[in-house]
Amino acid sequence: MPPSEPLGDWPNPNFRAAAHRTADLVADYLQRVPQYPVLGACKPGDVAAQLPAAPPEHAEPAEALLADYARIIEPNLTHWNHPGFLAYFSITGSGPGILGEWLAAGLNVNAMLWRTSPAATELEERVCDWLRQMLVLPSEFQGHLNDTASISTMLALAAAREAAGLDVRTHGLAGLPPLTVYCSDQAHSSVDKAAIALGLGLDQLRRIPCDAAFRLDVSALERVLAADRAAGKRPIALVATAGTTSTTSVDPLRALGEIARRENLWYHIDAAYAGSAAICPEFRALLDGLELADSVVTNPHKWLFTPVDCSVLFTRKPGVLKAAFALTPEYLRSAETGVTNLNEYGVQLGRRFRALKLWFVIRAFGAEGLRARIRQHVQWASEFRSWVEADPGFEVCAPSPFSTVCFRAVPPGTPEAQDRFNATLLESVNAAGPVFLSHTKLRDRYVLRLAIGNLRTTLAHVLQAWTLIGEAAKKLNA
Ligand SMILES: Cc1ncc(COP(=O)(O)O)c(C=O)c1O
Repeated sequence: MPPSEPLGDWPNPNFRAAAHRTADLVADYLQRVPQYPVLGACKPGDVAAQLPAAPPEHAEPAEALLADYARIIEPNLTHWNHPGFLAYFSITGSGPGILGEWLAAGLNVNAMLWRTSPAATELEERVCDWLRQMLVLPSEFQGHLNDTASISTMLALAAAREAAGLDVRTHGLAGLPPLTVYCSDQAHSSVDKAAIALGLGLDQLRRIPCDAAFRLDVSALERVLAADRAAGKRPIALVATAGTTSTTSVDPLRALGEIARRENLWYHIDAAYAGSAAICPEFRALLDGLELADSVVTNPHKWLFTPVDCSVLFTRKPGVLKAAFALTPEYLRSAETGVTNLNEYGVQLGRRFRALKLWFVIRAFGAEGLRARIRQHVQWASEFRSWVEADPGFEVCAPSPFSTVCFRAVPPGTPEAQDRFNATLLESVNAAGPVFLSHTKLRDRYVLRLAIGNLRTTLAHVLQAWTLIGEAAKKLNA
């Protein structure tokens, strides 16, 4: 006979005890993380070898789960919350953000409709509007949260397709002229992925060359646009980047906005990383023209200290985005009118309660505290840059307006030999343990990147990185 009581979840006292233990594990981790090498010492397959191939048949206690987390998982990670993590765009799962994640997990609400999650819906609207005000975007911009900038950009380009008035939503792309999208050769690969996912095709993504400072070349864009129109293509969108992935260059946002308006193109700005800098008045001039966008993406999970994942897509034309995606099958009908049903602004139906962590981060640090932290990162990047500039064995490879510096060693030898030197240098610095830097290629040359964005990073960590780089270069030169 089946029991009449549900077999149910963990009993509450057991959960409570394990939750307290977990809180300690996380707090211990945040305290201990600087002692780990940033890159885990594990080799491919090491972790898998410690995991049973088959699922457990019998229940295991919380202690066993947490012990295996501590033994198998924590030491075998690349530690993004490490103060020496200076690779890619460095990020922070901050204390208040972590609390927001925990509470959202406890609630486990699905914010697909206002009805299914009133507080999650209204908090998301309010917190996105707070961020809009902090970025000084005009009040007509409405934001919602996605997992990543890649998805936000794909949704923006779906809105661009909708705005073209071709009813692709109903009829598909068959029979239409090629719908073209424009971005710079420095734009993030998420624009390519959006072109793939939306059926536009990579051939219709026109990557325009950049100027000497890695900003989209406006006259080259004008030429390609004119040629495409003459060839019968149908330009639908222009994607500018405010803070490119390799160098953090900012495209000429105002000039591009004017072209987009004249050419009737949807104007999307990818400010995934550098958008956060717009909360500081002194950096807003670098992002001049942001307000001309039809849509802007910025990622609080990049440089606004909010745990992964949290990306805000702002648009001044939410009706177009909604027209691209809204569907209400009978089982999703609800009686409320005048409310926002967040699933109508994208592909996914079910959605996480991400607003809670962003709300906590903004309140816990305050706009002023967030500005001060961003300023500190920019200041330290500028100090790092000055050390590189002062060393004849190195050169800075691009302007560094924010918290990321591109540089490389310049030993005597051919460009190819210099590339090999820098790749070995990077490997050797990263193998030391205390810091992790990444690389890119600029004009075909191998370049190192140092990116500051973690709240535990101090100027001492940046100096340590520079010392390790200098020592490794000396050894390689010897
Ligand atoms: C400029 C830019 N846009 C978009 C992305 C993609 O971000 P996500 O990982 O949130 O999709 C990145 C990632 O670094 C980026 O640098």
